[in-house]
Amino acid sequence: MAIDTVTWRDGKVRILDQTRLPTELVYRECGDWNGVAEAIRVLRVRGAPAIGVAAAYGVCVAAEKAADAATGADLLRALEPAIAGLAATRPTAVNLFWALTRMRGVLERDDVSSADADAARAALLAEADRILAEDRSMGEAIAGHGRDLIPENGRVLTHCNAGALATGGIGTALAVVVAAHHQGKRLLVYADETRPLLQGSRLTAWELEREGVDARVICDSAAGGLMARGEIDVVVVGADRIAANGDVANKVGTYPLAVLARYHGLPFYVAAPVSTIDLSIPSGREIPIEERDPAEVTRGALGRTAPAGVRAVNPAFDVTPADLVTAIVTDRGVVRAPYEVGLEAVVEGRA
Ligand code: MRU
Repeated sequence: MAIDTVTWRDGKVRILDQTRLPTELVYRECGDWNGVAEAIRVLRVRGAPAIGVAAAYGVCVAAEKAADAATGADLLRALEPAIAGLAATRPTAVNLFWALTRMRGVLERDDVSSADADAARAALLAEADRILAEDRSMGEAIAGHGRDLIPENGRVLTHCNAGALATGGIGTALAVVVAAHHQGKRLLVYADETRPLLQGSRLTAWELEREGVDARVICDSAAGGLMARGEIDVVVVGADRIAANGDVANKVGTYPLAVLARYHGLPFYVAAPVSTIDLSIPSGREIPIEERDPAEVTRGALGRTAPAGVRAVNPAFDVTPADLVTAIVTDRGVVRAPYEVGLEAVVEGRA
């Protein structure tokens, strides 16, 4: 079930504020690019594809404000701070940079840079709408390619939120699971709560409830014990960036799950659109890992959960080496090792 996570409405970017879920369904309207950047930074909108869509509309809202621009070329000059500011929000999900590169590319086209500013604004909005529409269809395609990987009576473990909320459409990893549910398979889905910001319990469990999928929230640290007791059949997660060799950056805590899955002989699937594959970097070592405010670790729903003044580290993502990944489900098909070959083929549209 798609959810309107990010849309364009009356010249503003309308964002479902995910920091308020699961208790409140609240939308925010951002009338300038700084508001969009803030929403990305504090995770009102989050998940790699959704961040890309939000950034694309953030450029459109900045274009609306650039009243002095006469041509597309003027607009590009005026939008440089907005593009740079949006790019500076979160470093790991490559979809953010992919979307901004597409938006800049529109203004760099000869026909647009020489056109009047209103025509250039319309071209920008058309590109952002295209990014959103592609996001919707990529989720459907991923679900179609991935659902047969989930067994009948499967007990599935997922981490963080790679559902509709993380995209402009139906999601990636969670879309695979929900599509298997719609095939009539009886499933039990374990949602890691996903410390420290609890995207698994707040968002994934909320989505699974809406879809009527039998779900259980677990502490992140319970996964290994469940595997050891034979209570998990398959792990499916999303991705924020996939390097050319198949190394996968995803929400912190994904890598330990992949190690556990290997130890227990379980398949470990990653689901992501082609826009998440970054062939410009050879391996996961080059993926920038976002370091977030340590207070996210030392303060939780109970207030302070660590002594005042204690230091914490808060990497928001980790990298799973390609050899722990059973397969990567993309919108252009399922890729297996050797990943260098398969990923290049799907990016170039040869698969
Ligand atoms: O910090 P977040 O909530 O943006 O992290 C999101 C994830 O790690 C998701 O698994 C990922 O973006 C997959 S997108 C469908």
